Amino acid sequence: MDDTEFKHAFDAEIFREDARAVVDLLADYLQRSAGPDKRVVLPSYSPEEMAERWNAPIPATPSDDLISLLTRVINDSHHLHSPHYVGHQVSAPLPLSATADFAASLLNNASAVYDMGPVNVIHERRIIEWMTGLLGYGPDAGGIFTSGGTLGNLTALLAARQIKADVDVWSRGAAGNGSLAILVSEQCHYSVRRAVGVMGLGTDNVIQVPTGSDYRMDAAALEACLSEAEARGKTVFAVAANACSTATGTYDDLNAIADFCEEHGLWMHVDGAHGASAALSEKYRHFLSGVHRADSIVWDAHKMLLVPALITAVIFKSNADSYRSFSQKASYLFEKESEDEWYNYAHRTMECTKTMMGLKLYVPLMIHGSDFFTRYIDRMYDLARDFAVLVSESSDFELAVQPEANIVCFRYLGDGSGNLDELQKWIRARILESEDFYLVQADLQGKTFLRCTLINPLTGIEHLKALLELIRETPSEPAE
Ligand SMILES: Cc1ncc(COP(=O)(O)O)c(C=O)c1O
Repeated sequence: MDDTEFKHAFDAEIFREDARAVVDLLADYLQRSAGPDKRVVLPSYSPEEMAERWNAPIPATPSDDLISLLTRVINDSHHLHSPHYVGHQVSAPLPLSATADFAASLLNNASAVYDMGPVNVIHERRIIEWMTGLLGYGPDAGGIFTSGGTLGNLTALLAARQIKADVDVWSRGAAGNGSLAILVSEQCHYSVRRAVGVMGLGTDNVIQVPTGSDYRMDAAALEACLSEAEARGKTVFAVAANACSTATGTYDDLNAIADFCEEHGLWMHVDGAHGASAALSEKYRHFLSGVHRADSIVWDAHKMLLVPALITAVIFKSNADSYRSFSQKASYLFEKESEDEWYNYAHRTMECTKTMMGLKLYVPLMIHGSDFFTRYIDRMYDLARDFAVLVSESSDFELAVQPEANIVCFRYLGDGSGNLDELQKWIRARILESEDFYLVQADLQGKTFLRCTLINPLTGIEHLKALLELIRETPSEPAE
């Protein structure tokens, strides 16, 4: 059989040439993104228009050129490296991290088990050890990587239920446990509620603990929420805290929540998907005070550690607990009992095959050093404070709440007339149409706010001043 075309597809010299051309293309893109020229952040095509732009059928035979294809991809993409990208919590990845991820894709040591990715498995262990140290956990702590904070929250809560429920839920199902319930901050990310739904507990068993005007969980209300839940026949097994919340970047009082959990024998879970990276910062680490008392915590590196999606650490105070989320045997994969096989991570993850995700964090940590990331966190959290001052000192803007992390919610008051909620939606739509900035919006305590996550280290206060000017210049004609 003729294998010429396969030899061609795997030819090292062709790869060298293609990859160099792609790197040139991406380097030019990076230069443009950070350059002084006006740039498109998010092209304003509707989904229908975008579908039309990409309507070519998948061909049976060669039909496109790599560089022209990728040029079109770059042009039509959302440009997270623009300093004017101040939207959702997705990083502008370090070029070095993207380079490592490129290497990981070719090596494809996608490790369900040690044999399939020996170095990858060790990198994962080293990074988790580094993280548990930063969080202040003792030597018993451990964990695994998984694909995103959503899956991370599910993985932690599955362990919590298996450990706290009266019967072995894994083998017998949840039915024998009555109404298992969980207390969560009113401001928790939707993935926590989704996890409860997926676990078959029923989202009615997600009990919301109110937050105050500062958007922090009212820890004093936990007692009443628990009593009320018990009076309604529910068995609460866990509390999920925010560190920090998605909408406003607010950290819950982890020590107060830990006190409550310890007193009542409840599992304490911390959703630190965004805010756990503050552990790197001497200046801002205090927001995480008490985190080492949590039974589990989720930490997304693709949010505040400058790496491409996805890489999430699920960390347990007691590493032994990490084996409780999934209690399955598969003889074709595993040789021994799960706890004797720490290196076969599939014992402990939803995924079987998992991407070689550690490399994109390991490489920049080793090359730039962890202090680089400390300075990044400090810079972005400082910038949020500077931006908040700018907003507060402008009589035509209102700040939702003093920022703790790098998320700032504010709104434009204009001349104070008309429907201010509609005004924010109108402004955001006009800004997206202008393609000049990308920001999002959030509904907070019944009011609509504009919301910025300051995540690109090349974003500075001058860009945020320009954003406020752009907002001021937006013609104020919202629909009533
Ligand atoms: C606090 C928090 N938890 C969980 C998630 C979900 O993380 P992922 O998008 O990685 O699934 C997010 C995403 O924004 C978040 O902000």
